[in-house]
Amino acid sequence: MSQQKIPSNGNRRILITSALPYANGPIHIGHMLEYVQTDIWSRFQKLVGNECYYVCADDTHGTPIMLSAQKQNITPEELIAKSHADHQKDFDGFNVQFDNFHSTHSPENKFFTEQVYNQLLAKGHIAKRTINQLYDPEKNMFLPDRFVKGECPKCGSADQYGDNCDVCSATYSPVELKNPKSAVSGSTPILKDSEHFFVKLQDFESMLKQWLLTGVSQQIANKLNEWLEVGLQEWDISRDAPYFGYQIPNEPNKFFYVWLDAPIGYMASFKNLCDKTPGLEFDDFWNKGSDAELYHFIGKDIINFHCLFWPACLSAADYRTPTQVFAHGFLTVNGTKMSKSKGTFIKASTYLNHLNPEYLRYYFAAKLSNKVDDFDLNLEDFVQRVNSDLVNKYVNIASRCAKLVQKSGGEMHAEIDQPELLKQFQDTAEEISLNYENREYSKATKAIMLLADKANTYIDEKAPWTLAKSEDTADEALKVCSMGINLFRILSIYLKPVLPALVSNVEAFLNTAPLSWQDINQPLLAHQLNKFKPLMKRVDIKQVEVMVASSVEAAPSKKKNKASKEVKKNDLSKVEPIKPEIQFEDFDKIDLRLARIVSAEHVEGADKLLRLKLDIGADEKQVFAGIKSAYAPEDLVGRLTVMVANLAPRKMRFGLSEGMVLAAGPGGSDLWILNPDEGSKPGMRVK
Ligand code: 2FM
Ligand code: ZN
Repeated sequence: MSQQKIPSNGNRRILITSALPYANGPIHIGHMLEYVQTDIWSRFQKLVGNECYYVCADDTHGTPIMLSAQKQNITPEELIAKSHADHQKDFDGFNVQFDNFHSTHSPENKFFTEQVYNQLLAKGHIAKRTINQLYDPEKNMFLPDRFVKGECPKCGSADQYGDNCDVCSATYSPVELKNPKSAVSGSTPILKDSEHFFVKLQDFESMLKQWLLTGVSQQIANKLNEWLEVGLQEWDISRDAPYFGYQIPNEPNKFFYVWLDAPIGYMASFKNLCDKTPGLEFDDFWNKGSDAELYHFIGKDIINFHCLFWPACLSAADYRTPTQVFAHGFLTVNGTKMSKSKGTFIKASTYLNHLNPEYLRYYFAAKLSNKVDDFDLNLEDFVQRVNSDLVNKYVNIASRCAKLVQKSGGEMHAEIDQPELLKQFQDTAEEISLNYENREYSKATKAIMLLADKANTYIDEKAPWTLAKSEDTADEALKVCSMGINLFRILSIYLKPVLPALVSNVEAFLNTAPLSWQDINQPLLAHQLNKFKPLMKRVDIKQVEVMVASSVEAAPSKKKNKASKEVKKNDLSKVEPIKPEIQFEDFDKIDLRLARIVSAEHVEGADKLLRLKLDIGADEKQVFAGIKSAYAPEDLVGRLTVMVANLAPRKMRFGLSEGMVLAAGPGGSDLWILNPDEGSKPGMRVK
């Protein structure tokens, strides 16, 4: 049996992080690209036997979170608690397995933030000076750049943010905006002085130049060196009250800027994990000179925070610096930026309502490299790739072989049919593990799929289904299928970091303990299998279309303005009389369902009707609705509404109408479909 060397096994201690998501918004598939990338790496390190921890937290501080809570009439603490639960659910749904998912609003984070600041202060790295900023006189608060809007000082375009212009891409300071308005209250901001605290980043120039030699890829180092050449600027780390964050010690009304305490959240989360894990020591990972490895996975937009400010803060506070920071590009969908109106801004929870998370994990892996390039999720390619690689190639090996082994009692053959082929599969471990290690996942999956092709060719050539027909060759058939299953088992080990849930079902079928990298070398011989259950369904492009339709967020409808023309309470002539009383049983016969409008079209030859396709969870219905005079089809697609789902179908000139959409109002343009609250889902019964 081959006993080749398995690289990177068992001797390393590794701490990994992903960027902390803001606690005021949902996780979307753009975020997921990073979490899946990191999770695959973490699972790979654990699979080969390294001691590895993957921690994250919610990024909870700052003005947007404070204002968002105010808008919802809840406290920031309530808002971040809700986000934490939502985020945790999304991560669980995508099988992203943190060892700890903490919060920057935590005692640990407060402690480390104050410690880092005190060290910066004690060592003379903090400068204080008064600056002049835009201030909202109604809300009594200074305005961050994104909370001021006005005309671009360069091209004059209206409605531009305080930091840059969407139209001409100019960057400027908010005080340069013409006719500025506070986005919080609408009032005209005034200029006001305030003392701010700055980290003198210039003090860290030589330390940073040294760190960059090993801390980032050449691609990122080149970018950062450009900034270093221009000269490092002082970094403003204070914000004035009101602000949701930590107060600067001994400085009433001054708070730490969220970006100071956010990366410190990595330490805080790890400390919190140490406190609940016997034997795990914080200092072993964070002390200067630690031989543990520390890696941060981030997006390209936050490189400066992680590769300049963060190593500087760590070094000032006498902690170790990151071993490496890995940056990835942005996610685009079908070649363009994710868009709410096109339905390509897909929330993690929406994806999970429609599709298996492991499809996307695989697609990400199949195309990810270690470069900072943007990643395009092409939805047609996604369907094609998942079906052809996972269903037709990989899972197919098991489904083809399992039946025959099952037929002969479920016990695998005691001998290997083709030791050379098995060895080829085992010998690829080094190449695959190196590609995982280097975050070249597309190369790893390519090598795995080449092996899957070989396994399928082997089975095709041996045609065990023919061998099984005669008693003389039945043993050979079992040998071939057992060989096929052994090859499938090795592929499953290789794919385990990418497809943890699927491989857990494989482990159940193989009737084995959780597979590890070392198991590659021990094939299963004379081993009893469990009953085979289908491992993965094909993706149907229709499921993807429905997901996209349900992600469409219509631009604020013009119809909304009409709502202000309220019917006066005492104007009874406008209110229809209530119908005669019915019993509950009468009402209960009507099956009302929440329905997502998947498509809406004009119907040729019909003045009043729109043809709607409605997703009601388990089923899709076609309904001809008389709402054409009130709604344009494009305003309906993606909306959730209510339909009668058990109305007898009606044959119409244009086709079958399988129900009725509920609408209120006298008719014409004064007709209103119902709009269930956010959070409700297609298929829910209205009762
Ligand atoms: O850009 C962002 O989404 C930030 N919330 C990332 C923070 S990463 C770390 F520094 F905390
Ligand atoms: Zn402009």
